[in-house]
Amino acid sequence: MKSIASAPGKIILFGEHFVVHGTKAILAAINKRVTVTSAFTDNNTIKVNSELGTLEVPISSLYEEAKGEFRPFVYLANKMINSNQNVNGLEITIDSDIPVGVGLGSSSACCVAAAGSIFGLFKEWSSEEILKISIEAEKTIFPDTSGADCTVCTYGGMIEYPSIEKIGNTFDLNLLITNSMIPHSTKNSVEKVNKFKENNEERFSQLCDLETKLIDEVITAMKDNDTTTFGLKMSENQKYLEEIQVSNDTLRSMIGSLKEVSLGSKITGAGDGGCVIALVRDENMDKVPTLLPKDKECFSAKIDTKGVEWKREK
Ligand code: PMV
Repeated sequence: MKSIASAPGKIILFGEHFVVHGTKAILAAINKRVTVTSAFTDNNTIKVNSELGTLEVPISSLYEEAKGEFRPFVYLANKMINSNQNVNGLEITIDSDIPVGVGLGSSSACCVAAAGSIFGLFKEWSSEEILKISIEAEKTIFPDTSGADCTVCTYGGMIEYPSIEKIGNTFDLNLLITNSMIPHSTKNSVEKVNKFKENNEERFSQLCDLETKLIDEVITAMKDNDTTTFGLKMSENQKYLEEIQVSNDTLRSMIGSLKEVSLGSKITGAGDGGCVIALVRDENMDKVPTLLPKDKECFSAKIDTKGVEWKREK
């Protein structure tokens, strides 16, 4: 028997970094997904197959001993094995169409789908349970996570985190994602922002207040079907991200190139590389490839209303 779960990647539309310090954030699941398949084996090992390589360790191995990117899977396997006596081995296979390390939620979607798949070997679970376990798994590589990414990957749609209620009235956003092709480390960027906060306490607190106000204005703009304001707020949010120093020349130049065709654009995710999102008018979509350097990948994202999904197969 195989247990198969899938979860969507995500973009952060507003509020990355500030959300780690307690503000709200607006996130959306996107139509790129990761699928995790788990099955019992008799090999006395935990085996993980992914595009990053293969790991096979004795079933008694602890997650702390595993290499960084494999830790969440070994953590989840440990947790499941500890609560179930008769497991002689486990094989976990990850298939993903989410680019890795560029802020599109690859690691969170993997944690959510792996939690669903591994625990699905034994029992039916609730989204709440899977969210809790997936955040624990993500903490094995990134202890300071706000939990926002795993939340949207679990529930899907667009949410105003920490609420899991889906924002129903999203107008037909034409969101363009451009990948700088520079991998980033969320952990390093978050640490850098922590230093900024330590050295500029008062300003950081003002920026958190400004971000909260901006998110309230975005929610109103969505209710009013006001795409122009939505775009302007994206660019305003980018200014806050520039101020906390998670941008760089490449990202600024990509944002500059998209200016003439977009209503607004900004980093999505931790920054220092990764992706930029832009709100582009339909009639301008054709012009986009000519504006960006050839080495950047871009695609138009649709909001995925489906969160984690799960099934068993013989
Ligand atoms: O890992 P990324 O690039 O999707 O960024 C995560 C978003 C942060 O706000 C920077 C961190 C967090 O845990 O919310």
